Amino acid sequence: MKIIQLKKDLLSEIDSLKISGKKIGFVPTMGALHAGHIALVSQSVAQNDITIVSVFVNPTQFNNKTDLDKYPRNLKKDADLLQQVGCDLIFAPEAAEIYNAEELDNRFSFDFGGLDKVMEGKFRPGHFNGVVQIVSKLFKLVQPDRAYFGEKDFQQLAIIHHMVKLFGLSVEIIDCPIVREDSGLAMSSRNERLTIDQRKKAVEISKVLFESRNFAAQMSPADLTQWVVDKINEVPELEVEYYEIVDSTTLQSIDDWTEPAVGCVAVFCGEVRLIDNIRY
Ligand code: PAF
Repeated sequence: MKIIQLKKDLLSEIDSLKISGKKIGFVPTMGALHAGHIALVSQSVAQNDITIVSVFVNPTQFNNKTDLDKYPRNLKKDADLLQQVGCDLIFAPEAAEIYNAEELDNRFSFDFGGLDKVMEGKFRPGHFNGVVQIVSKLFKLVQPDRAYFGEKDFQQLAIIHHMVKLFGLSVEIIDCPIVREDSGLAMSSRNERLTIDQRKKAVEISKVLFESRNFAAQMSPADLTQWVVDKINEVPELEVEYYEIVDSTTLQSIDDWTEPAVGCVAVFCGEVRLIDNIRY
């Protein structure tokens, strides 16, 4: 497995892979890899000739400096994990290799077709501009045939699909199911920042989401939303930032259950912000 930090080295690798007709699977990550990432990488290894994983904590998608500073980083540990599951190449650039000073100001602006007006987009202004900025740059460098994204970041996935259509890219986006710990807690790099006690509390998030499914037949989306918020907020140290039951394609809140619906939540557990979602 190769570890590459420079764009020029990556591009020369990609050139020779393309010349030899290899199918490239790509998993963009910010490192601090867990079983959720590993599931994406394993799927890519199974479906492509070559799997490339990027490990890059993208500064332009953070709107909170502390969150960026505290984001866990451990390339050695990530590389060991990736080697074990058959990844062929890690691209782990420094920020200066990717962005010039102007780009670091996050001036990039993208038409999200309304997908960014809700949920993460509302509470993390500029976040999705940063995500699209880096993912489009990485796609240009890696030129993947397929790219793998987890459904835990449900809104991100909808926006990536929108971006691929809008830019007319030929990459196939593969949606991969949420990977959960045995407790039900959705796997996240941020879980590393939870204390043992907070982790026990955070488990209640997915418990409440799963339980809420039992009430979907008898409650309106608005009533069920309130129920979920109240139940999670009852747990000490948990505080819901938003819970929205939305149409799974448009991401707009629904008033009745006629559309395929997904409930998306962001919760603070102490200082750690966690997201999760559930399909109804
Ligand atoms: O989902 C993530 O980890 C990030 O948003 C991504 C897609 C790697 C872009 O930095």
